[in-house]
Amino acid sequence: MTSGGNPQNGSHTVRIWVNGALRESTEASVSVLDHGMTVGDGVFETVKAVDGAPFALGRHLDRLERSARGLGLPAPERELVRRACAEVLAANPAKLGRLRITYTGGLGPLGSDRGDSGPSLIVALGEVARRPDAAAVVTVPWTRNEHSAVAGLKTTSYAENVVALARAHQYGASEAILGNTAGRLCEGTGSNVFVVLDGRILTPPLNSGCLAGVTRALALQWLDAEEADLPLTVLEEADEVFLTGTLRDIQGVSRVDDRELPGAPGPVTAKAIAVFTERAAADLEP
Ligand SMILES: Cc1ncc(COP(=O)(O)O)c(C=O)c1O
Repeated sequence: MTSGGNPQNGSHTVRIWVNGALRESTEASVSVLDHGMTVGDGVFETVKAVDGAPFALGRHLDRLERSARGLGLPAPERELVRRACAEVLAANPAKLGRLRITYTGGLGPLGSDRGDSGPSLIVALGEVARRPDAAAVVTVPWTRNEHSAVAGLKTTSYAENVVALARAHQYGASEAILGNTAGRLCEGTGSNVFVVLDGRILTPPLNSGCLAGVTRALALQWLDAEEADLPLTVLEEADEVFLTGTLRDIQGVSRVDDRELPGAPGPVTAKAIAVFTERAAADLEP
């Protein structure tokens, strides 16, 4: 970023798009009665931006729309969201950026009923560091509810992820992995999970309750990988484990709970990282 502090902790002078205009972060606000604020009635996207260019924005906007419709919110105006992203990217130069699009129910009553003032749209950007090629993960005792009304939607109700990720950090790990209510492998708090088993690259299907990750979809397309219903315990025996996510791309797993996976990223994961890096660099809108 060009000026003024760390965008990750709020002490910065970055410019944020709020409901139609760019504002300094100190001036950028929505109502305390915004339904996103009071009940977590909103959806969001995190988009990677490299040197100011967003990666796979079209796929992220598709998912934003699917998530919004899933909550019964009107579909976001695609061109408006694109313009907001372009203005935020231009106003906040960063080598590697986390472009965050938030779209909420807007001003509403204090309860779960939604108001009729129309949605709020916020687009912000924070500079981030490139992730390491491998990371430790822990499994957590809480489950993803694959039968939930919001399963598969990227809603702003992420408090469960906040709790699980804090648990991971407590154990020196950078991600928490959740099973679903049937004890099947599901996903991380902000990532999808893949395992390498007997030479096959496998990831849980969407009916496990996981998010349809943009990176997951690209990995399924670009690698020789398949969907498979897997028990959470597969993490105890997999030859390799890796995560996919917008800011992780593909990242090897070096430890699952107490199980070390020495040399991570292993050979299959290392190849996957190389393929992904090459394909992603060749096409920003895959
Ligand atoms: C719960 C959850 N699962 C998976 C992912 C990975 O999705 P993507 O590759 O689109 O970033 C995310 C990322 O934001 C997420 O929040």
